Amino acid sequence: MATFNGFSAFFAVILVAVNSQELVKEQCSQKSDVVFVMDSSGSISIRNFQSEKDFVKEVASTFKMGPDQSQIAVISYSDHAQVDVKFGEYSNVNDFNQAVDKVKHQRRRTRIDKSLDLAATSVFTPRGGARPNVAKVMVILTDGKQTVMSDSKTLDVAVRPLQDMNVTIFGVGVGKAIDIAELLLLVGGIEENLFRAQNFNELARDSLRVAAQTCKRIRPPPVDGSWSAWQKWSVCTRSCGTGIETRARTCDNPRPAHGGKAMSRIGRRDAFV
Ligand SMILES: *[C@@H]1O[C@H](CO)[C@@H](O)[C@H](O)[C@H]1NC(C)=O
Repeated sequence: MATFNGFSAFFAVILVAVNSQELVKEQCSQKSDVVFVMDSSGSISIRNFQSEKDFVKEVASTFKMGPDQSQIAVISYSDHAQVDVKFGEYSNVNDFNQAVDKVKHQRRRTRIDKSLDLAATSVFTPRGGARPNVAKVMVILTDGKQTVMSDSKTLDVAVRPLQDMNVTIFGVGVGKAIDIAELLLLVGGIEENLFRAQNFNELARDSLRVAAQTCKRIRPPPVDGSWSAWQKWSVCTRSCGTGIETRARTCDNPRPAHGGKAMSRIGRRDAFV
């Protein structure tokens, strides 16, 4: 009996540990424009499509939503891609969640390339509500492979405009029909940005882990350097006749960061006096 009690106590401790880990929900403080791209193809059951929505809502909720915070958009794709939620359309989590629950299940083929085109041309743009100098993030879900048709693009080609816009792309592959090589094209070969789940139940259980990983790996937007004001002229090199005074400015207003450009010319100006 004593052994049995010791045994159950041991298990109780483990369960508490697992539960408390599941409950940890960290806010992502990185100000971002985030697009969730949902697979709306026919291989996903009605129930699993709802699980996919629940995953999107859960991950989205870790971002602080608002005009001065993060903006969240949603695209769904099957034969076509469509924008279901625009950037800035909702700044309230409940309204956003309702809109996600209303996303239509197309139940056709898997044209991932069309969702990438749409993201680049209509969502990550000023007209689409994307903001300059804000981290750009895309989380794209699929349970299968891109459908190859006469007009389809391979994913490395379709994803290039987004890479050029410095969008940090995360791929989420669910189930056994996914093609890892194809998903790697989607995330630019960065394995850490690729998540896999055996099925949609596992996906739902993993949402907070994916959210935490995503937040950690978002690339902040590049800041291009710009000149400071000119500093004061130096003291003349000679007290009479011809001398040289110099003054300087520095590329720190702001200092370039996260891969932004530095100013190219020398920050010094000479004057003959
Ligand atoms: C992308 O990042 C590079 C630096 O890594 C920067 O030079 C370039 O201007 C950025 N492009 C856009 C569209 O922000």
